Amino acid sequence: MVNLNDVNSKLLKAHYAVRGKIVIRATQLEGQGKKIIYCNIGNPQALKQKPITFVRQVLSLLEYPALLERAETALLFPVDAIKRARLILSHNPSGTGAYTNSAGIPFIRKAIADFIHRRDGIPADMNRILLTDGASKGVQAAFTLLTNKETDGYLIPIPQYPLYSATIELYGARQVNYFLDENANWQLNESELNASYSGAKKKGVTPVAIAVINPGNPTGAVLSWENIEMVIRFARKHKLAILADEVYQENIYGAGLEFHSFAKVMHDMGETEVTLFSFHSVSKGFLGECGHRGGYLEIRNMPDDVYAEMIKLQSIGLCSNVDGQLVTYLMVAPPVAGDESHELYAAERGAILSDLKEKAEILGKGLGGIEGMHTSVPQGAMYAFVRFDLPHAPGAEPEKMAEKEREAYEARRDNDYCLALLEETGICVVPGSGFGQRPGTLHFRTTFLPPKDEIRELVEKMKKFHAAYTAKLKGA
Ligand SMILES: Cc1ncc(COP(=O)(O)O)c(C=O)c1O
Repeated sequence: MVNLNDVNSKLLKAHYAVRGKIVIRATQLEGQGKKIIYCNIGNPQALKQKPITFVRQVLSLLEYPALLERAETALLFPVDAIKRARLILSHNPSGTGAYTNSAGIPFIRKAIADFIHRRDGIPADMNRILLTDGASKGVQAAFTLLTNKETDGYLIPIPQYPLYSATIELYGARQVNYFLDENANWQLNESELNASYSGAKKKGVTPVAIAVINPGNPTGAVLSWENIEMVIRFARKHKLAILADEVYQENIYGAGLEFHSFAKVMHDMGETEVTLFSFHSVSKGFLGECGHRGGYLEIRNMPDDVYAEMIKLQSIGLCSNVDGQLVTYLMVAPPVAGDESHELYAAERGAILSDLKEKAEILGKGLGGIEGMHTSVPQGAMYAFVRFDLPHAPGAEPEKMAEKEREAYEARRDNDYCLALLEETGICVVPGSGFGQRPGTLHFRTTFLPPKDEIRELVEKMKKFHAAYTAKLKGA
């Protein structure tokens, strides 16, 4: 039998906190009958968000095209859903059960290029767009292409979404942290980037790319145009590729804030040297189709011979799943005014996004008002990264600890806190150490996806829990 000693040590070292020990414990407790409020993962439909009707109607017709031949179908489905299914079938007559091109069905790639053009007013090339099984696989494809030596490094934000740290570990590359500025709404800071770059060089690491998540996970921050420009200049100066994770581009709630894509900013700067990988997904936004595993990767500033390697890489996995490709198509080509489905589609989209905005406010104001907790209303995405204060146990002197020891000490503290929170209140959040945090600070990440009444309940329970937990530590 294979035992742990035989297992790839890089896999053993990789961590993915969002589905870690606390979540496993939550499932056990749920099995024992305890009510759990799952705030650990951005999985909207697991938390009662309804799928968009149009998406499911078209998918149903495509999964069972015999329906298109039945008279009752005209009574059950809107005209434009039927028309759309026929259109897709005409472009992809082999249907959902057949492999497609490695890069994805060409007419879907064309629809994505049109979407980018509509969104940003810039040209987009369908032959630099690859369909992927969710953004995760797109990110990993970029890492596969770029990782060449053990000393290759990736600048990643701290806090970050653990796909990045885990993939770096799996691929045997080096993680180069840059801290986001909590006091400036989690924007990137140029001197911080410079310090992290030169620190890496001093250690013999060669940074090859910088990853940026906008809107942010776990921070919920929306980056300004100027901040993105700064990152592009930085990447140019140091010859870095950019990995722009833009899966939350529809999830912006802050007044006056807008999503700016890296592609758009780069185009307007006239930047033609920096290679850009941009990721998008059907999992977030208002679709929340996480289970369908759809997304795309758009590449700019890459020569043909390198792009051919990207296609080869995709071909090793044959192609991304066809339902995911179809949902991606429906995301980028929704019903338009005049289509029978448009009104319902717009109403569903509006209801989901305004509900998320309201929930962001309830959560941000509620938790931010608790003594010893610090957060503002999330500007975007689906999360708040909440800082909290805890007294140290008597005798603990973290300032005197070595870096690794201190990291472990802090990870223990936020893990213990989140575990106790779960055991006592049924609230399942993820410890900040799973995303990375500045030494000396403690955080947890919570989503604001559960229904409103559960979020209100969560705020009340957390208030009581935090006061009691802190009092217990002080008395210890
Ligand atoms: C920042 C970020 N990137 C990528 C992903 C992965 O998305 P997908 O479901 O498309 O793989 C997530 C999922 O939570 C995410 O938060």
